[in-house]
Amino acid sequence: MGGKLSRTGSRGLGLRGLRGLRGLRGLRGLRTRTADLRRRAERTERARAKLDRVTNAAESTRPRLEGWEYVTSGKIRDIYEPSVYSPFSDVILVVTSDRISAYDHVLPTEIPDKGKILTALSVWWFEQLSEIIPNHLISLDVPEPVAGRAMICQRLTMYPVECVARGYLTGSGLAEYEQSGEVTGIELPPGLRDGDRLPAPIFTPATKAPEGAHDENVSFAHVADQLGPDAAAALRATTLALYTRAEEIARGRGLILADTKFEFGRAAANGELTLGDEVLTPDSSRYWDAPTWEPGGPQPSFDKQYVRDWLTRESRWDRVSPPPTLPADVVARTRDRYIEAYERLTGRVFVG
Ligand SMILES: Nc1ncnc2c1ncn2[C@@H]1O[C@H](COP(=O)(O)OP(=O)(O)OP(=O)(O)O)[C@@H](O)[C@H]1O
Ligand SMILES: [Mg+2]
Repeated sequence: MGGKLSRTGSRGLGLRGLRGLRGLRGLRGLRTRTADLRRRAERTERARAKLDRVTNAAESTRPRLEGWEYVTSGKIRDIYEPSVYSPFSDVILVVTSDRISAYDHVLPTEIPDKGKILTALSVWWFEQLSEIIPNHLISLDVPEPVAGRAMICQRLTMYPVECVARGYLTGSGLAEYEQSGEVTGIELPPGLRDGDRLPAPIFTPATKAPEGAHDENVSFAHVADQLGPDAAAALRATTLALYTRAEEIARGRGLILADTKFEFGRAAANGELTLGDEVLTPDSSRYWDAPTWEPGGPQPSFDKQYVRDWLTRESRWDRVSPPPTLPADVVARTRDRYIEAYERLTGRVFVG
């Protein structure tokens, strides 16, 4: 989208282009868009600086892994590639750290075992969903220092879209609905409340913002423009099929899967649409306790509820300056919550 806007912008600067702008209104629109673009670039820059601080801080604790070279980090994951390139297997090592983020900040305190819990849960979900779409997981036979929290995966060319499915109305979906009666351009019936079930699940994509900047909800038409109509349709259909199956499975275990985010890519080897990243973890999904679900207000979430409560009510953090360290009881209760999600979904005991 940035590329498109700047192309329009530079064309508009020529005299001929200016005439084509139909007077002042067009010019004002151009200025607004340029200012908008500048603001976005500044936001991205700030987010990148923030992420750099976190990943630099994590550098000292990042293990050296024999046979692998560190490439990059997201907020939660560290990515490695083989030290020696093989033309026959284009793989990466995805290591899930114990880092936790809230309000777009990575917190300075880690949640012990979170990386292992998220990895085990993703692996379990990959198995449950493998009939719908192939996934990037190749092996869990990883170097000892990251055992249990790393996966060897097929390297994908990722689509720069967060593929969100919602079966219930809350969060940014609710905020949009209250403004316009729609979510990412999809009209919904009037009178829905926070936490209500939607008549049918909807695909509400978001831009995958570069370098950890804040993601923004976009319409299906926007995705079709960006990736082409066939790819957009494939992402929508697959996202909804995965959500529908996962919601059913979670419901059978007493959990409501309110919404979730998938990331897809294509493998160089066969060009096949492939499910990547993490799947259906409490970080990428909103799970609610089915027996206590009560629409009409916010539902307690399965991951960061204690963290968010403490940050907003007790810490007096302004959400701009570097976040404070978490107290031990908040860490312990958050860890328990992640374990509970894992154990209830999989029916297994988490052994660490
Ligand atoms: N198979 C894959 N091939 C290439 N890149 C992948 C693959 N699977 C996941 N990724 C990418 O690896 C990164 C994982 O890092 P992480 O989840 O920490 O970061 P993030 O997604 O940028 O941040 P957040 O999850 O907090 O929004 C993401 O950018 C994701 O798109
Ligand atoms: Mg991620």
